[in-house]
Amino acid sequence: MQIHPTIVGLRAALDPLRASGARIAFVPTMGNLHEGHASLMRQAGSLADVVVSSVFVNRLQFGPNEDFDRYPRTMDADCARMREAGVAHVFAPSEAELYPQPQTLRVVPDPALADLLEGAFRPGFFTGVATVVAKLFNIVQPQVAVFGKKDYQQLMVIRQLVQQMALPIDIVGSETLRADDGLALSSRNGYLSAQERGRALELHHALSAARDALRSGDRDFARIEHDAMAFLEARGWSPQYVAVRRQADLQSPAAHESSLVILAAALLGSTRLIDNLEV
Ligand code: PAJ
Repeated sequence: MQIHPTIVGLRAALDPLRASGARIAFVPTMGNLHEGHASLMRQAGSLADVVVSSVFVNRLQFGPNEDFDRYPRTMDADCARMREAGVAHVFAPSEAELYPQPQTLRVVPDPALADLLEGAFRPGFFTGVATVVAKLFNIVQPQVAVFGKKDYQQLMVIRQLVQQMALPIDIVGSETLRADDGLALSSRNGYLSAQERGRALELHHALSAARDALRSGDRDFARIEHDAMAFLEARGWSPQYVAVRRQADLQSPAAHESSLVILAAALLGSTRLIDNLEV
């Protein structure tokens, strides 16, 4: 596995592969990798000849009061995990390498998608994500890129980026990997105290109950959302949203619609967790 801190170095390694007809799959990350990331990398390996991954904590997508400075940087452990997951090339630029001038040109996703849900609670988040992902796509030039459904709205923003900018990249959505108790794996789970970790599965329970209600034919979406929020509040969480939405565009569904997704964000102590379930 080769580690490339520079754009020039990465391109020098990938250009000959591409010229010889190799298919390149790309998995962008912010590091502090867990088995969820590794599952994306393994899936990428099943879709292409060469897997490229990136590790870059992207300042542009963090709000002024968010955890950019304390976001865990664990490059040695990340490299071991990537090697084990079959990654051939790692792009790990410094901020000076990826943003040599202030990144004043931004990719602003459609507010009809990007200002909802996560975007409503994290203003500018999806602009930061779309900007770095567009830049990484231009650097790596993959044929396929794999993103987790754990970040459901992010996956949709990336799909829209690729469609509307006619980028020749297949975007593959990968299922959320969970701990045995149902908690979605996340780099931010590391912020939880042992006591909080024991309770973190309650978020998955709230979503599962909402999914059961929908599956049994309940179409009172507002009450289902309210019940899930109340369930979390009663257990000491500070939920930001629980929303039943259409998978197609994350808008509110009409009562007869199927292909739904329930999305939630909630604070447990000072740790913000998100999760979702498709129905
Ligand atoms: P990061 O949070 O490191 O996540 C990298 C990728 O791993 C994303 O596609 C995310 O959805 C996926 N992922 C995270 N937890 C997962 C889980 N439990 N199961 C399956 N996949 C999971 O998302 C980002 O980084 C950044 O926004 C990025 C796209 C790299 C742009 O900076």
